[in-house]
Amino acid sequence: MTGLERRHLRGLDDLDADRILHLLEITDHMAEIGRRAVPKVPALRGRTVAMLFFEDSTRTRLSFDTAAKRLSADTMTFSASSSSLNKGESLRDTVETLDAMGVDAFVVRHKSSGAPWQISRWTNARILNAGDGWHEHPTQGLLDAYTLWSALDRPTLTGGRPLAGVRIGIVGDIKHSRVARSDVGIFTMLGAEVVLIAPPTLLPPDLDGWPVTVAHDLDCVLGSLDVVYLLRMQSERMNEALVPSLAEYSVRFGLDEPRVTAMRPGAMVMHPGPMNRGVEILVDPAELDRSLILDQVTNGVAVRMAVLFEMLGHGAIAEASETGGR
Ligand code: NCD
Repeated sequence: MTGLERRHLRGLDDLDADRILHLLEITDHMAEIGRRAVPKVPALRGRTVAMLFFEDSTRTRLSFDTAAKRLSADTMTFSASSSSLNKGESLRDTVETLDAMGVDAFVVRHKSSGAPWQISRWTNARILNAGDGWHEHPTQGLLDAYTLWSALDRPTLTGGRPLAGVRIGIVGDIKHSRVARSDVGIFTMLGAEVVLIAPPTLLPPDLDGWPVTVAHDLDCVLGSLDVVYLLRMQSERMNEALVPSLAEYSVRFGLDEPRVTAMRPGAMVMHPGPMNRGVEILVDPAELDRSLILDQVTNGVAVRMAVLFEMLGHGAIAEASETGGR
Protein backbone atom coordinates (compact mmCIF):
# COMPACT_ATOMS: atom_id res chain seq x y z
CA MET A 1 0.00 0.00 0.00
CA THR A 2 1.43 3.40 -0.89
CA GLY A 3 0.30 6.97 -0.37
CA LEU A 4 -1.10 8.81 2.59
CA GLU A 5 -3.45 6.66 4.64
CA ARG A 6 -5.19 8.61 7.34
CA ARG A 7 -6.79 5.43 8.71
CA HIS A 8 -3.43 4.44 10.15
CA LEU A 9 -0.38 5.99 11.75
CA ARG A 10 2.38 3.63 10.75
CA GLY A 11 5.03 6.18 9.85
CA LEU A 12 5.92 9.28 7.88
CA ASP A 13 4.19 7.75 4.84
CA ASP A 14 0.87 8.29 6.60
CA LEU A 15 1.60 11.91 7.52
CA ASP A 16 1.72 15.23 5.77
CA ALA A 17 2.01 18.73 7.23
CA ASP A 18 -1.81 19.17 7.26
CA ARG A 19 -2.40 16.03 9.24
CA ILE A 20 0.40 16.90 11.68
CA LEU A 21 -1.04 20.39 12.26
CA HIS A 22 -4.51 18.93 12.77
CA LEU A 23 -3.11 16.46 15.31
CA LEU A 24 -1.28 19.28 17.14
CA GLU A 25 -4.58 21.13 17.46
CA ILE A 26 -6.41 18.07 18.79
CA THR A 27 -3.50 17.43 21.16
CA ASP A 28 -4.01 20.87 22.66
CA HIS A 29 -7.60 19.90 23.57
CA MET A 30 -6.45 16.58 24.95
CA ALA A 31 -3.77 18.27 27.07
CA GLU A 32 -6.52 20.44 28.54
CA ILE A 33 -8.55 17.32 29.42
CA GLY A 34 -5.40 15.91 31.07
CA ARG A 35 -5.27 18.94 33.39
CA ARG A 36 -8.85 18.51 34.64
CA ALA A 37 -9.61 17.13 38.10
CA VAL A 38 -11.20 14.14 36.39
CA PRO A 39 -9.14 13.67 33.22
CA LYS A 40 -11.55 11.39 31.46
CA VAL A 41 -14.09 11.79 28.63
CA PRO A 42 -16.47 9.27 27.03
CA ALA A 43 -15.27 9.89 23.44
CA LEU A 44 -14.19 6.32 22.67
CA ARG A 45 -16.68 4.40 24.80
CA GLY A 46 -17.32 1.00 23.23
CA ARG A 47 -14.09 1.02 21.24
CA THR A 48 -11.34 -1.51 21.89
CA VAL A 49 -7.65 -0.73 21.59
CA ALA A 50 -5.21 -3.66 21.68
CA MET A 51 -1.60 -3.08 22.72
CA LEU A 52 0.58 -5.51 20.83
CA PHE A 53 4.06 -5.24 22.32
CA PHE A 54 6.72 -7.61 21.04
CA GLU A 55 9.57 -5.53 22.46
CA ASP A 56 10.26 -4.09 25.91
CA SER A 57 8.57 -0.84 26.69
CA THR A 58 7.57 1.03 29.80
CA ARG A 59 6.66 4.58 28.95
CA THR A 60 5.22 4.10 25.48
CA ARG A 61 2.94 1.22 26.49
CA LEU A 62 1.75 2.96 29.65
CA SER A 63 1.31 6.19 27.74
CA PHE A 64 -0.91 4.58 25.07
CA ASP A 65 -2.78 2.67 27.76
CA THR A 66 -3.44 5.84 29.76
CA ALA A 67 -4.47 7.69 26.60
CA ALA A 68 -6.99 5.01 25.62
CA LYS A 69 -8.44 4.89 29.16
CA ARG A 70 -8.78 8.68 29.37
CA LEU A 71 -10.94 8.44 26.27
CA SER A 72 -12.95 5.58 27.88
CA ALA A 73 -11.87 2.94 25.35
CA ASP A 74 -11.48 -0.66 26.48
CA THR A 75 -7.94 -1.94 26.28
CA MET A 76 -6.29 -5.34 25.84
CA THR A 77 -2.59 -5.85 26.31
CA PHE A 78 -0.48 -8.49 24.64
CA SER A 79 3.19 -8.55 25.63
CA ALA A 80 5.70 -11.00 24.27
CA SER A 81 9.44 -11.15 24.51
CA SER A 82 10.92 -10.53 21.10
CA SER A 83 12.72 -13.88 21.24
CA SER A 84 9.68 -16.11 21.67
CA LEU A 85 7.64 -14.70 18.83
CA ASN A 86 8.81 -13.39 15.52
CA LYS A 87 7.53 -12.17 12.19
CA GLY A 88 5.55 -14.42 9.87
CA GLU A 89 2.80 -16.83 10.78
CA SER A 90 3.02 -16.48 14.54
CA LEU A 91 2.60 -12.72 14.33
CA ARG A 92 -0.24 -13.16 11.87
CA ASP A 93 -1.94 -15.72 14.13
CA THR A 94 -1.72 -13.37 17.09
CA VAL A 95 -3.20 -10.48 15.14
CA GLU A 96 -6.01 -12.58 13.70
CA THR A 97 -6.83 -14.04 17.09
CA LEU A 98 -7.13 -10.66 18.77
CA ASP A 99 -8.94 -9.30 15.73
CA ALA A 100 -11.55 -12.03 16.09
CA MET A 101 -12.32 -10.72 19.59
CA GLY A 102 -13.20 -7.33 18.11
CA VAL A 103 -10.39 -4.80 18.03
CA ASP A 104 -10.74 -1.29 16.59
CA ALA A 105 -7.08 -0.32 16.76
CA PHE A 106 -3.81 -2.15 17.27
CA VAL A 107 -0.92 -0.29 18.86
CA VAL A 108 2.14 -2.18 17.68
CA ARG A 109 5.72 -2.28 18.88
CA HIS A 110 7.96 -4.80 17.13
CA LYS A 111 11.67 -5.29 16.64
CA SER A 112 11.21 -5.76 12.89
CA SER A 113 11.06 -2.66 10.73
CA GLY A 114 7.87 -2.67 8.69
CA ALA A 115 5.81 -4.85 11.08
CA PRO A 116 2.95 -2.27 11.31
CA TRP A 117 2.60 -2.18 7.51
CA GLN A 118 2.54 -5.99 7.42
CA ILE A 119 -0.10 -6.15 10.15
CA SER A 120 -2.31 -3.65 8.34
CA ARG A 121 -2.71 -6.23 5.56
CA TRP A 122 -4.19 -8.76 7.99
CA THR A 123 -6.87 -6.72 9.71
CA ASN A 124 -9.34 -3.94 9.05
CA ALA A 125 -8.50 -2.33 12.38
CA ARG A 126 -6.49 0.89 12.55
CA ILE A 127 -2.76 0.45 13.06
CA LEU A 128 -0.62 2.70 15.23
CA ASN A 129 3.11 2.23 15.18
CA ALA A 130 4.63 2.41 18.68
CA GLY A 131 8.15 1.72 17.35
CA ASP A 132 9.29 -0.75 14.68
CA GLY A 133 12.94 -1.75 14.89
CA TRP A 134 15.30 1.03 13.82
CA HIS A 135 12.66 2.41 11.52
CA GLU A 136 10.01 4.76 12.93
CA HIS A 137 8.24 5.95 16.06
CA PRO A 138 5.69 8.44 14.78
CA THR A 139 3.90 9.26 18.04
CA GLN A 140 7.28 10.11 19.59
CA GLY A 141 7.89 12.48 16.66
CA LEU A 142 4.47 14.07 17.16
CA LEU A 143 4.87 14.44 20.92
CA ASP A 144 8.30 15.98 20.42
CA ALA A 145 6.88 18.44 17.90
CA TYR A 146 3.97 19.31 20.20
CA THR A 147 6.30 19.73 23.20
CA LEU A 148 8.57 22.05 21.30
CA TRP A 149 5.70 24.00 19.80
CA SER A 150 4.17 24.60 23.25
CA ALA A 151 7.55 25.50 24.76
CA LEU A 152 7.93 28.11 22.01
CA ASP A 153 4.61 29.67 23.09
CA ARG A 154 2.60 28.16 20.29
CA PRO A 155 3.75 29.94 17.13
CA THR A 156 0.94 30.24 14.59
CA LEU A 157 0.00 27.09 12.72
CA THR A 158 -1.22 29.17 9.79
CA GLY A 159 1.17 28.69 6.91
CA GLY A 160 2.12 25.24 8.17
CA ARG A 161 5.66 26.04 9.38
CA PRO A 162 5.36 26.70 13.13
CA LEU A 163 8.92 25.52 13.80
CA ALA A 164 10.50 27.74 11.11
CA GLY A 165 13.75 29.30 12.31
CA VAL A 166 14.27 26.72 15.07
CA ARG A 167 17.60 24.89 14.91
CA ILE A 168 17.51 21.43 16.45
CA GLY A 169 20.60 19.29 17.03
CA ILE A 170 19.92 15.57 17.40
CA VAL A 171 22.92 14.10 19.19
CA GLY A 172 24.09 10.50 19.42
CA ASP A 173 23.14 7.12 18.10
CA ILE A 174 21.15 8.18 15.06
CA LYS A 175 21.96 5.02 13.17
CA HIS A 176 19.81 2.80 15.40
CA SER A 177 17.23 5.38 16.36
CA ARG A 178 13.65 5.17 15.14
CA VAL A 179 13.01 8.35 17.15
CA ALA A 180 15.56 10.25 15.04
CA ARG A 181 13.94 9.12 11.78
CA SER A 182 10.45 10.19 12.84
CA ASP A 183 11.67 13.40 14.46
CA VAL A 184 13.67 14.48 11.42
CA GLY A 185 10.63 13.96 9.18
CA ILE A 186 8.15 15.73 11.42
CA PHE A 187 10.40 18.59 12.60
CA THR A 188 11.41 19.45 9.04
CA MET A 189 7.83 19.20 7.72
CA LEU A 190 7.03 21.89 10.31
CA GLY A 191 9.86 24.10 9.08
CA ALA A 192 12.66 23.39 11.58
CA GLU A 193 16.30 23.03 10.64
CA VAL A 194 17.87 19.78 11.85
CA VAL A 195 21.56 19.03 12.43
CA LEU A 196 22.56 15.43 13.14
CA ILE A 197 25.54 15.33 15.51
CA ALA A 198 27.37 12.02 15.87
CA PRO A 199 30.57 10.20 15.06
CA PRO A 200 30.41 8.74 11.52
CA THR A 201 29.93 5.23 12.94
CA LEU A 202 26.67 6.25 14.60
CA LEU A 203 25.15 7.79 11.48
CA PRO A 204 23.13 5.82 8.92
CA PRO A 205 25.44 4.78 6.06
CA ASP A 206 23.33 6.67 3.54
CA LEU A 207 21.83 10.04 4.38
CA ASP A 208 20.68 10.73 0.85
CA GLY A 209 17.29 12.38 0.93
CA TRP A 210 17.49 13.29 4.63
CA PRO A 211 16.73 17.03 4.87
CA VAL A 212 19.52 17.61 7.42
CA THR A 213 23.07 18.79 7.87
CA VAL A 214 25.65 16.72 9.72
CA ALA A 215 28.31 17.59 12.29
CA HIS A 216 30.82 15.29 13.95
CA ASP A 217 31.89 17.71 16.67
CA LEU A 218 29.25 18.73 19.20
CA ASP A 219 31.29 21.61 20.60
CA CYS A 220 31.54 23.28 17.19
CA VAL A 221 27.76 23.54 16.76
CA LEU A 222 26.44 23.58 20.33
CA GLY A 223 26.28 27.39 20.60
CA SER A 224 24.12 27.60 17.46
CA LEU A 225 21.37 25.24 18.65
CA ASP A 226 17.96 26.20 20.01
CA VAL A 227 17.30 22.59 20.98
CA VAL A 228 19.73 19.88 22.05
CA TYR A 229 17.95 16.56 21.50
CA LEU A 230 19.91 13.75 23.18
CA LEU A 231 19.55 10.10 22.18
CA ARG A 232 20.32 6.95 24.12
CA MET A 233 23.06 4.68 22.87
CA GLN A 234 20.91 1.79 21.57
CA SER A 235 23.37 -0.92 22.63
CA GLU A 236 20.75 -3.66 22.26
CA ARG A 237 20.67 -2.95 18.52
CA MET A 238 24.44 -2.95 17.99
CA ASN A 239 26.30 -6.07 17.05
CA GLU A 240 29.68 -4.38 16.82
CA ALA A 241 31.56 -1.79 18.82
CA LEU A 242 30.72 1.49 17.09
CA VAL A 243 32.44 3.71 19.62
CA PRO A 244 35.72 2.93 21.38
CA SER A 245 33.96 3.04 24.77
CA LEU A 246 30.96 4.63 26.41
CA ALA A 247 33.35 6.73 28.48
CA GLU A 248 34.95 8.16 25.36
CA TYR A 249 31.52 8.76 23.78
CA SER A 250 30.53 10.60 26.88
CA VAL A 251 33.58 12.85 26.77
CA ARG A 252 32.89 13.81 23.14
CA PHE A 253 29.09 13.90 23.04
CA GLY A 254 27.72 13.81 26.60
CA LEU A 255 25.91 16.86 27.96
CA ASP A 256 28.10 17.92 30.89
CA GLU A 257 28.36 21.18 32.87
CA PRO A 258 30.77 22.97 30.50
CA ARG A 259 28.49 22.15 27.56
CA VAL A 260 25.43 23.36 29.44
CA THR A 261 27.28 26.65 29.96
CA ALA A 262 28.19 26.79 26.26
CA MET A 263 24.55 26.40 25.17
CA ARG A 264 22.65 29.36 23.80
CA PRO A 265 20.71 31.22 26.50
CA GLY A 266 17.21 29.76 26.52
CA ALA A 267 18.24 26.65 24.58
CA MET A 268 16.12 23.61 25.41
CA VAL A 269 17.11 20.02 26.16
CA MET A 270 15.03 17.02 25.07
CA HIS A 271 15.41 13.24 25.41
CA PRO A 272 12.90 10.50 24.50
CA GLY A 273 13.86 8.33 27.48
CA PRO A 274 14.98 6.05 28.89
CA MET A 275 18.01 8.16 29.83
CA ASN A 276 21.40 6.70 30.49
CA ARG A 277 22.74 9.07 33.09
CA GLY A 278 26.52 9.25 32.96
CA VAL A 279 26.59 8.49 29.23
CA GLU A 280 24.64 10.97 27.09
CA ILE A 281 23.65 13.16 30.04
CA LEU A 282 26.02 13.98 32.89
CA VAL A 283 24.01 16.70 34.58
CA ASP A 284 20.78 16.47 36.51
CA PRO A 285 18.04 17.40 34.01
CA ALA A 286 16.01 18.89 36.85
CA GLU A 287 18.73 21.51 37.30
CA LEU A 288 18.76 22.60 33.68
CA ASP A 289 17.16 25.95 32.84
CA ARG A 290 14.98 24.55 30.10
CA SER A 291 14.64 20.78 30.18
CA LEU A 292 11.56 19.57 28.29
CA ILE A 293 12.15 15.92 29.20
CA LEU A 294 9.22 15.51 31.60
CA ASP A 295 6.98 17.64 29.37
CA GLN A 296 7.68 15.11 26.63
CA VAL A 297 6.32 12.35 28.89
CA THR A 298 3.24 14.35 29.91
CA ASN A 299 2.51 15.40 26.34
CA GLY A 300 2.96 11.83 25.14
CA VAL A 301 -0.39 10.94 26.68
CA ALA A 302 -2.15 13.92 25.07
CA VAL A 303 -0.67 13.18 21.64
CA ARG A 304 -1.71 9.54 21.83
CA MET A 305 -5.21 10.58 22.90
CA ALA A 306 -5.31 12.87 19.85
CA VAL A 307 -4.21 10.13 17.49
CA LEU A 308 -6.67 7.58 18.92
CA PHE A 309 -9.47 10.13 18.79
CA GLU A 310 -8.64 11.15 15.23
CA MET A 311 -8.74 7.51 14.13
CA LEU A 312 -11.62 6.15 16.19
CA GLY A 313 -13.60 9.20 17.30
CA HIS A 314 -16.71 11.05 16.14
CA GLY A 315 -17.14 10.13 12.42
CA ALA A 316 -16.13 6.56 13.05
CA ILE A 317 -18.48 6.29 16.02
CA ALA A 318 -21.42 7.76 14.07
CA GLU A 319 -20.75 5.31 11.26
CA ALA A 320 -20.64 2.40 13.70
CA SER A 321 -23.91 3.36 15.41
CA GLU A 322 -25.71 3.77 12.07
CA THR A 323 -24.78 0.25 11.10
CA GLY A 324 -25.56 -1.01 14.59
CA GLY A 325 -22.04 -2.12 15.41
CA ARG A 326 -18.51 -2.36 14.17
C1 NCD B 1 12.62 5.19 22.44
C2 NCD B 1 12.37 3.91 21.65
O1 NCD B 1 11.87 2.93 22.19
O2 NCD B 1 12.69 3.96 20.49
N1 NCD B 1 12.00 5.25 23.67
C3 NCD B 1 10.69 5.57 23.77
O3 NCD B 1 9.83 5.11 23.05
N2 NCD B 1 10.39 6.47 24.70
C4 NCD B 1 14.05 5.55 22.54
C5 NCD B 1 14.97 4.58 23.20
O4 NCD B 1 14.64 3.46 23.49
O5 NCD B 1 16.12 5.01 23.45
